[in-house]
This record gives sequence, C-alpha cells and structure tokens, in this order.
Amino acid sequence: MQTATGFDGALPITRVIATRVVTAAEHVVEAANILRAGGLVAFPTETVYGLGADATSGLAVAQIFAAKGRPTFNPLIAHVADLAAAQREGAFGADALALAQAFWPGPLTLVVPVAASCSVSDLARAGLASVALRVPSHAVARELIRLAGRPIAAPSANISGHISPTLAAHVLADLDGRIDMILDGGACDVGLESTICACLGGGVHLLRAGAVTRAMIEQVLGRKLEMQAQAPSTQAPSAQPVAPGQLLSHYAPRARVRLEATHRVEGEVFLDFGASMPGATLDLSPRGDLSEAAAGLFSALRQLDALGSATIAVAPIPYHGLGEAINERLQRAAAGR
Ligand code: TXA
Ligand code: MG
Repeated sequence: MQTATGFDGALPITRVIATRVVTAAEHVVEAANILRAGGLVAFPTETVYGLGADATSGLAVAQIFAAKGRPTFNPLIAHVADLAAAQREGAFGADALALAQAFWPGPLTLVVPVAASCSVSDLARAGLASVALRVPSHAVARELIRLAGRPIAAPSANISGHISPTLAAHVLADLDGRIDMILDGGACDVGLESTICACLGGGVHLLRAGAVTRAMIEQVLGRKLEMQAQAPSTQAPSAQPVAPGQLLSHYAPRARVRLEATHRVEGEVFLDFGASMPGATLDLSPRGDLSEAAAGLFSALRQLDALGSATIAVAPIPYHGLGEAINERLQRAAAGR
C-alpha cells in the first residue's frame, strides 16, 4: 500500500486534546477503569478498531449510540474473554460450539439465543432475544476485556454509516471530542469487520462475510451454509435472521463508487487490484493478494476520498475466499450513491 496523501497529518493539534490517543501497552489498565466507570474507549482488534463500553450498562451503551450517531435499533456485538464467558451470555448449540472452538479467538461473531444468565443490556441487544458474541484475538483487546471483567460492547469506532477504522488516526478523525480515549495499537491485521454467523436453531446463516470465509465455516460444519449473505439493497425475507446493520447503506465514502471498473474515466481516481490498470491512483495489492487487499481497503477508501474526486473507480476483485467479504464491503460503499 502507498502511504496516505495528507490524510493522517491533516488533523490540527487542538483536536488531539479532547480525546486522548495513547499507546495501548501502557494505558490498558487505565482504559479498563474508564470502561468500568461507564466511559468510552476505542481499542484495536484484529479486524477493525472497536468503540468499547460496558455491555452490561444500558447507560454506558447509550453513550456509544450517541457518539456514533447510530440508530438504536441496530444491536451491538458483545466482546468476551473466552468461550466460557460467551456461554454465560448465550446458548450454544452443537453448530455454534463447533464454530467457536474452531475460530475463537478470532474474527468470527456468533449470534445465538440469549442465556438466562445473560448480562448484556437490552439496549446493546436492541431488545432482541439473541446476542452477538465475539472473542477477539488481538492481545490489547483481550487484555482490556480481561481487566474490565465484563462483556464489552463494541461497534466499529466510526461515525454511523462511515468507513470502519483500521488506524487510531481514523478513529480520531471521526470521534475526536466524543470519546474518552483511543488505545493506539497500530494497524489492524485483517482490516474488515468480523464474519457474522447466526446459530438460532434453524441452521447456520452467514449474516456478514469476513476473514473466516464461507468455505472455512462449511468445512467445520461438514455441510453448506443455509443462505447467501444478504446483498446490501435486498430486503431480507422475514423468516431469515438478519444483521440489522447490514440492511443500511454503510461504509460510505463521500465520493460515488464505481465497481468492476476496467477502463479509466477522466477525473476519477482509480483503486486497482493486481496491477491491472497502468497509472492507477492506488493498488490494494499489486501482487493480487486478497489478505493484503482486505487489510488496506478501508484506509485506501479514506485516502482516495480525501483527494476530492467525485468518483472512485475500483478494479474487479475476485470473489473467492476473502474476496466475498471485500466485494460485500465495496457493494455497500457503492450503494445509494
Ligand atoms: O469486527 C467486528 O465485528 C467489529 C470489531 C470492533 O469487533 N465490530 C463491528 O461491530 O463490526 P458493528 O456494530 O459495526 O457491526 C455489528 C453487526 C451489525 O450489523 C449488527 O446489526 C449485527 O452485528 N448484530 C449485532 N447483534 C445482532 C443480533 N442479535 N442479531 C443479528 N445481527 C446482530
Ligand atoms: Mg460498523
């Protein structure tokens, strides 16, 4: 990936004073104390930066919705330390258990029925009878959850509908002055939000594609998933579980996004993959590596958006493996523009 064009350095110094950006390793204890006191802390995970609050406190969770400008009907993922903690919050059938054992800690969220002992607040669950649970693998996230000693609700740490953050600077650009602290842990490895699977008794449904791919899930289950991931613009049939947040226009840059671009148009900036277009503005992975492309996608969209062009053209990205998740995010970035 090329470096940012004026984006990271463009923040005036006065904006840094309101929200503290601190090194993760030295401030994780203080961050956990802020969470325990009902405050908001952005922290790195292996997928994207999360905006954390005490999931058991409706008051703390309400601050997340306020800071992000997020519709309160959109439920949050509760981040927990391990499978045992997850099983206190949700009811795990055989499929959910197999997936948790195969992919936790890691970039997979499981939506399961709430357990009787569930401590996640109604507001975090948006009043649903299910709860979304994830055990992240990032060392800072794990330590923060352990020290907080309770589930941490954390959506991506961006203004609602904006591009998810993969750097502390992205979080600051969106949420400065709205949250207490940002734990800076460098760039996120995966770069796309977690895969979401619903295990609610009617089979396993893929609600959001991610780094744990369809093929990886089907291999663990020993059978095919129940349905295709929802295309962004389609209305989900009511009998099927949905991730409410997936039905909205999301990941939206200011510029219009033109997908599957195989030619250049004057005035457009061009986001390439696999060095297919001479003179492209940026290339997600000149050597055509989907993991590298996923890790740099959201940064690239922010960088290109900052250049001020009306349209971002994007080269075709293959659909196999991580390509499904990348294409899903790109289609959502292009939707409604
Ligand atoms: O990688 C990630 O998952 C990041 C990091 C911070 O962990 N978090 C994240 O959260 O992407 P968020 O809030 O941006 O996306 C959570 C998605 C939303 O689309 C929401 O609708 C869905 O999870 N969701 C949460 N609870 C649900 C439930 N009970 N049933 C169906 N979907 C649910
Ligand atoms: Mg989000």
